[in-house]
Amino acid sequence: MALVRIPDENRTLADRDAVAVYLAQVGIQYEVWTPEHPTASDASSEEILEAYSSEIERLKKSGGYVTADVINVNAQTPNLDAMLAKFSREHWHDEDEVRFIIHGSGVFHIHPQNSPVIAIEVGAGDLIRVPRGTLHWFDLCSDRQIRAIRLFQDPSGWTPRYTESGIDQRYQPVCLGTSYVR
Ligand SMILES: [Fe+2]
Repeated sequence: MALVRIPDENRTLADRDAVAVYLAQVGIQYEVWTPEHPTASDASSEEILEAYSSEIERLKKSGGYVTADVINVNAQTPNLDAMLAKFSREHWHDEDEVRFIIHGSGVFHIHPQNSPVIAIEVGAGDLIRVPRGTLHWFDLCSDRQIRAIRLFQDPSGWTPRYTESGIDQRYQPVCLGTSYVR
């Protein structure tokens, strides 16, 4: 269940419907998926893709996505800091960024054109779709691990294009965790 913070307004949204409504207003699609076949923590990528195959097919049809894979990032990932540094600066892509979180957590900052920057803390069960061209950046939470299904319209389009605005420096990637109570 995602949490949305609006730092400039000192607001946090923790109600599922309120989160989905607010995100829709800024063009971000958000869903919570309950798998028909929950996967074990040591499940292979193939087992995860199989468990969520019906949801993946639905998304492929609705968004023109052609491929799906599973990304697995944790403290053992080689060159983890260098990898994270690529995504923690404001950027956009020429295609949608679609992530369904299997395990772990992280924070997407979204910089809408006409409203304040928002921080979306995502965890297991959250599906987020950041449309192409949307300014954003991403950080892991302190557990420094995330496993997620990714969908692509064209994997070559998923290259970060940096704004070099420096705005990402003004927002701390705070993770409140699942125990957050309004
Ligand atoms: Fe991105």
